Amino acid sequence: MKRIIIAIDGHSSCGKGTLARQLALALGYKFIDSGAMYRAITLHLLNTGINPDDEQAVASVLPDIIIDFSANIETGRSDIWLNHKNVEKQIRTLKVADSVSQVARISAVRRYLVALQQKMGEEKGVVMDGRDIGTVVFPSAELKIFMTASPEVRAMRRFKELSDSGVVTSYDDVFANLKQRDLIDSNRKDSPLTMTGDYKLLDNSTISKQEQFEIAMNWVAETVR
Ligand code: DC
Repeated sequence: MKRIIIAIDGHSSCGKGTLARQLALALGYKFIDSGAMYRAITLHLLNTGINPDDEQAVASVLPDIIIDFSANIETGRSDIWLNHKNVEKQIRTLKVADSVSQVARISAVRRYLVALQQKMGEEKGVVMDGRDIGTVVFPSAELKIFMTASPEVRAMRRFKELSDSGVVTSYDDVFANLKQRDLIDSNRKDSPLTMTGDYKLLDNSTISKQEQFEIAMNWVAETVR
């Protein structure tokens, strides 16, 4: 079967990663969480005391940052590594979430990560999720999916996920963070989140994970046929 690139873009916390992982597993493809890469850079800045608003300072440390992924056999997911340290857990905190959209606005950061992402997709057979995968990273991706859900549904899912993993937070804080990130991600100058005509829209406010997986697998079948 022809191996393709599947780009999944959309709003924060609408299950892009879940769908991307399911598709990658079913198709024997690589799954790459591009948001984790922006989060890892943000974590590095927070750890080293660099102000995410200082674009020049941020750009100057990019050459010191090495990002890798590895398979985690226990969780069945892939973990992200920052300068040879596994930071999969640290990048998911609200502290990182609060600054990441600010960091993702910086063009030098985007150029650095887009080049890395394009290298990861050179051999096709990749599902990558993010905000600009179908518009900037792989504009000629064979299948582009734009995912969304209502802000309330997304915030509740994210709140449950964080609470289940032991993070103490409130629904209101999660909701506010999500709205703020949507606003910045969709309105930034460089590579804003936009749905262009070649995306297939998937609103999962009222459908199950299984239903969304089946819809996406049908799109894959149509594309590789
Ligand atoms: O998908 P996520 O919530 O882990 O992404 C974290 C942030 O990174 C999000 O607020 C926007 C940014 N991002 C981006 O600008 N471009 C991408 N391809 C992926 C994420």
